[in-house]
Parts: sequence; C-alpha cells; structure tokens
Amino acid sequence: MKGIVMAQASLYQQILDPANRANPYPLYAELRKTPVTREADGTYVVSTYEEIVALLHDPRVSSDPRSRPGVAEDSLLLPFINRDPPEHDRLRELAMRPFGPPQSPGRVDALRPWLAGVTDGLIDGFAGKTRIDAVAEFAYPLPVAAICHLLGVPREDEPRFHHWADATVEAFDPTTGTFEERQRRRSEVTRELGEYLNTLAEARVRQPGDDLISGLLTDTGPHGPMARTDLLNTGALLLVAGHETTVNLIANGLLTLLRHPDVLERLRHEPDLSIPLVEELLRYEPPVHMLTGRSTLADIDLAGTAIPRGSPLALVLAAGSRDPHRFPDPDRFDPGRADNAHLGFGNGIHYCFGAPLARSETQVALSALARRLVNPRLVADPPPYRPNPALRGPRRLMIEFDAVAP
Ligand code: HEM
Repeated sequence: MKGIVMAQASLYQQILDPANRANPYPLYAELRKTPVTREADGTYVVSTYEEIVALLHDPRVSSDPRSRPGVAEDSLLLPFINRDPPEHDRLRELAMRPFGPPQSPGRVDALRPWLAGVTDGLIDGFAGKTRIDAVAEFAYPLPVAAICHLLGVPREDEPRFHHWADATVEAFDPTTGTFEERQRRRSEVTRELGEYLNTLAEARVRQPGDDLISGLLTDTGPHGPMARTDLLNTGALLLVAGHETTVNLIANGLLTLLRHPDVLERLRHEPDLSIPLVEELLRYEPPVHMLTGRSTLADIDLAGTAIPRGSPLALVLAAGSRDPHRFPDPDRFDPGRADNAHLGFGNGIHYCFGAPLARSETQVALSALARRLVNPRLVADPPPYRPNPALRGPRRLMIEFDAVAP
C-alpha cells in the first residue's frame, strides 16, 4: 500500500471546474443528496429547493459584503442588490418608481413594439448568410439595446461599458481570486462606470428625457429624487444586470429549442407558447446558476446542519430548480408544466427587479427566431461555454439555416 491519498475535489469544486460547465446537472443531482454541505474554506453550499427558499427569506442572511468578517468596503459603492433592509427596500422602491407599477405601470409593455422592431432588424441582418454566431449577432445586441434605450444611455458608447460589464461579471465568478479581491475589482469598475454615468446624469439634469435616469433625477415623489451616488450605483447595476443575464437566457433558449425540435415547431405556429416556454427555460437552463454573495448574520440550523454566524453561502439556484421534491420529472424540458415556481429570478426581497423586461425580451426574441429562421440547426453541441459557473451561458452559439423568412 502506498501511503499517498489524493485530495479529492469536492462536488462543489467539480461544479466550479469549467470542464463541467456544459452539463453541471448530474453534479447538482449528487449535491442535492446532502442539502447543505460545508466546503474546506467554510462556505456552506445549499442545493435543495426548500432550503434555498428558506434562506432567501431569512432576515439572518445578508447580501451586504460588509457582513463578512474582514471585508472592508466603500459603502458608497454598494448598489441595492448588495444591501440589506431598510436601505435595500428604500432604494429598490425609488428605483422602481420610473420602471414599473404602481407609479409606472405599462412601461415595460409599452416597449414591446420597439423590441419587436429591434429583433426583426437583427434578423434582417442575417439575410444572405446561412451561418451565424447567435450570441454575438443576436442574443447580445438585443438586451443591450433594450437596457440602453430604457436608461437613456447612447448605444454608440456600448464598447466602453461592454468592458465594464464584463469586468463586473467576472467579479461574480467565485473561481477568480478571493472574495475580497473580487469586491475590490468590482468597486474599481463601479467607480469608472459611475464617472461615465455621472457625465450622462449632468446632461439629463439640464435636459431630461423619457428615460429612467431622467426619471430618477427628477422624481417629485415623497422621497424626492434619488441621491446622486445612489443613482450612479443603481444605473451601473441596471446596465450590467441588463447586459449579462438576458443574453444567456436567449442563447440558452435557442440552444434548448434546437435540441427539442418538436417545441420549436410548435412555437413557429403558436407565438403565445413563448410565455410558458420562457418560464420553463428559467427553470431548466437558467442564466444565474448560483448566488455566492450572501453570508449569515447569526447561527442558522438548516436541514440538520448548524451554519455558524459569519459563514459565506453558495445558493445553487439551478440545482433547486431541478429538485425532484419540488418539480416532477425535473430533467424533462416541458413548457406545459402547470406549476413552475422556478428560482431563475431568485426569491424573496431581492427577486429580480428586471424580470418583466427579461421575460418580454426573451419571448419576443425566441418567437421571432422560430418564425423566421428556415430549418435552423446547431453547428456544435454542446457549444463552448464561458467559464463563469455563477452566470452560465455559451460563449458562442454557431447555428446554420437555409434562409431567413420575411
Ligand atoms: C433573464 C434575465 C435575468 C435573470 C435570469 C436575472 C436573475 C436575477 C436573480 C437570480 C436575481 C437575484 C439576485 C439575488 O438574490 O442576490 C436578480 C436580481 C436583480 N436583477 Fe435580474 N435577472 C435578469 C435580468 C435582469 C434585467 C434585464 C435587469 C435590469 C433591468 C435586472 C435587474 C436586477 C436587479 C436590479 C436585481 C437586484 C434586485 C434586488 O436586490 O432587490 N435583471 N436577477
């Protein structure tokens, strides 16, 4: 017997390994056998539906990086996704005023014809080609155009904030450096993006438009306009969130449809199928696989495990959304599911702010592709993935088709 024991990678480490990015679901099934596991670095990994939802509703769980022992953070740079009540609730409510009900009902719905126009314009651009990268040529430009339009950010500036958005998303990747390093990087990028947005805000103060930044700057509600630093953090958050998530839902959606030609064929004739279809995609192939920014403010007992105060948490939403105790036959892609309370947009007080917009964009995008691409097919299956295990999506999605219908 040789006395050497190889240190085995934990299931969570295997999940973080880019080699498993194309299909992490069998690893999630293994992980769910123990709803709460402890990693060597003290992170508690939670993978079952009921336990994830319990933590997302637990006031003893914080989204604020300053709750972690040893993390010093410039509080001025924290957007509301990284804050706890009461500040989170106050800022979210202010940000919602120009975006959704009750003050601005119909804002997202009113965008639909515009979205359909941009979508058709992108698809018109495929004319004369039979092969495209559906990420670069479709899934990326559509949500970027939408969030720029909504915020009032000139689209010509896209290359500049593309870089900032990529850098922010990297800060979400639990495999790149320590938590502190990632926070520091995130703060740097937020500062740069903030300077850009500040110049824009100055122009909007002088000449307000019909965009969100103007709306936040000129709000005459009970709390008045949003303070400038909060506005810059909120603008940066929306710009990045609007950039980096919907692209993956559209790309994952097209990939899934091409793997399920029967559903694609139905969508061609029934555009309304896009509504339950997008919900099923958020369950079955979600863009956000895990939330790694939370930590505990107190000792918490969960599923028989004592999680000590100050512990970092990894909440594996994508494993919860395939939990067989919550969803019958969870590995089946079935847009006809009667009950689909997926975790694709999270849950609790931080439930996705942009959900109505993301839904609308993806419904419009996928039904237009189904209608207009003649005989579409995948060039490579699986496609190459970006390495990020938390925000997961294809780097490229090469597809071929015979023609583009008008
Ligand atoms: C398919 C696309 C999208 C997905 C899958 C997604 C997913 C999520 C998830 C899982 C959360 C919860 C984060 C947490 O609990 O820590 C979240 C929060 C958030 N999302 Fe989205 N998102 C999408 C699109 C968008 C868009 C288009 C916007 C902007 C208009 C947006 C803005 C936000 C904001 C501001 C938060 C923080 C909410 C809060 O802290 O109260 N998201 N999103």
